[in-house]
Amino acid sequence: MTRTSIGRLHEHVGQEVEIRGWLYNKRSKGKLQFLMIRDGSGIVQGVAFRGEIGEEDFEAASRLTQESSVIVNGVVKEDSRAPGGFELGLTRVVPVQIAAEYPIAPKSHGVSFLMDHRHLWLRSSRQWAIARIRDEIVRAIRDFMAAKEFVLVDAPIFTPNACEGTSTLFETEYFGQRAYLSQSGQLYMEAACMALGKVYCFGPTFRAEKSKTRRHLTEFWMMEPEIAYATLDDVMDLAEEMLRYIVGRVSTERKNELSVLERDMAPLARVLESEPFPRVTYDEAFKILAAAGTETPFGADLGGGDETVIASHFDRPVMVTHWPKEVKAFYMKPDPENPERVLGVDVLAPEGYGEIIGGGQRMEELSQLESAIDAHGLPHEAFEWFKDLRRYGSVPHGGFGMGLERVVAWICGLDHLREAIPFARTMQRLTP
Ligand code: 4AD
Ligand code: MG
Repeated sequence: MTRTSIGRLHEHVGQEVEIRGWLYNKRSKGKLQFLMIRDGSGIVQGVAFRGEIGEEDFEAASRLTQESSVIVNGVVKEDSRAPGGFELGLTRVVPVQIAAEYPIAPKSHGVSFLMDHRHLWLRSSRQWAIARIRDEIVRAIRDFMAAKEFVLVDAPIFTPNACEGTSTLFETEYFGQRAYLSQSGQLYMEAACMALGKVYCFGPTFRAEKSKTRRHLTEFWMMEPEIAYATLDDVMDLAEEMLRYIVGRVSTERKNELSVLERDMAPLARVLESEPFPRVTYDEAFKILAAAGTETPFGADLGGGDETVIASHFDRPVMVTHWPKEVKAFYMKPDPENPERVLGVDVLAPEGYGEIIGGGQRMEELSQLESAIDAHGLPHEAFEWFKDLRRYGSVPHGGFGMGLERVVAWICGLDHLREAIPFARTMQRLTP
């Protein structure tokens, strides 16, 4: 007997195969039972006909409860009406474990109940689709970066200093010393790009975000490229090309999953058109906000609502550049033409998903960096090694950080980041 997966049934049309999985759902009609079987790679309907499968296996099938584990044999039939395009004419049903009454019925539950049962909720088809799209996005990023000849360099998670402001640091005791969970691998990538030219890190990062918005997690994954001899424009070109590649890859490789999520494909299709992403300065973006009657004062950081207003003026991701220096991190390079503005960029996703990428060109001059460290009230000792990068062969350089969950939420069309990561960590949630 050929053992295969539901995702590979197309290779076995007309053959009898074995599938090992779980019962997703079931209905029966007299001498027939229709078992929806999932095995992780997909879902298939197996039809048990009493006259063919025999009394004992028909009986075994009728004992299966939702999420019971089960091994079945069946003949693969092409059926365009079936989900996934195939059906199994069952020849054998062997229960592995009969599941106790499953807490998640196919009816709708409240979100907090589902999040409390996240370890089981992951099995539902919607969560299955999101997990597979997340996986595709991660692989797309790695493939894209490798093709561009970037070297993966892993950044540490225990760090001695802040990267993105001191208000969101998770502090931990470290053998009598204080350590922080990394907010970003950027500072380490700045060191690495001076050794390897083009580098990136991709791992978990932490922010003690006291906000309860749908866009904030306390633990999230960030991919951060850093390039020696790069300008703000180089950084923006890379971000644009990468986003287009990711959306293209998911659109072709994860069509089925996107349709499980009922994702409207039109906004994603526009990202793939060759027309460049719009690039506007903070000052230009603010004009859009002012016209829409924002309460944010000119020169201040933009809120989630502001981002949505700006993004809604464009039909593809928009890049906002030249931010007031006060609202951005200490390492951003001032614009030589207007030192009140820094060479930073935020990429805002369409459809109200907000900032998915933040980055820019870095300060490469030592005395300028020292004043910035002072101005932000940061401790010099912690940054001595970082200042070394400006002492020994400093060059213009830049990069960005892309939040994986923000991109997953946008591409999947999710209304909250908690579904974009397998086990979300937020201010109110540390379990399961
Ligand atoms: O804009 P941020 O704070 O930039 C940095 O950390 C830079 N050091 C990155 C760099 O230049 N190497 O964060 C980058 C991205 C944001 O655009 C957003 O997508 C995501 O990380 N992000 C979050 N995602 C989920 N929850 C949070 N609390 C996030 N904070 C930032
Ligand atoms: Mg940012």
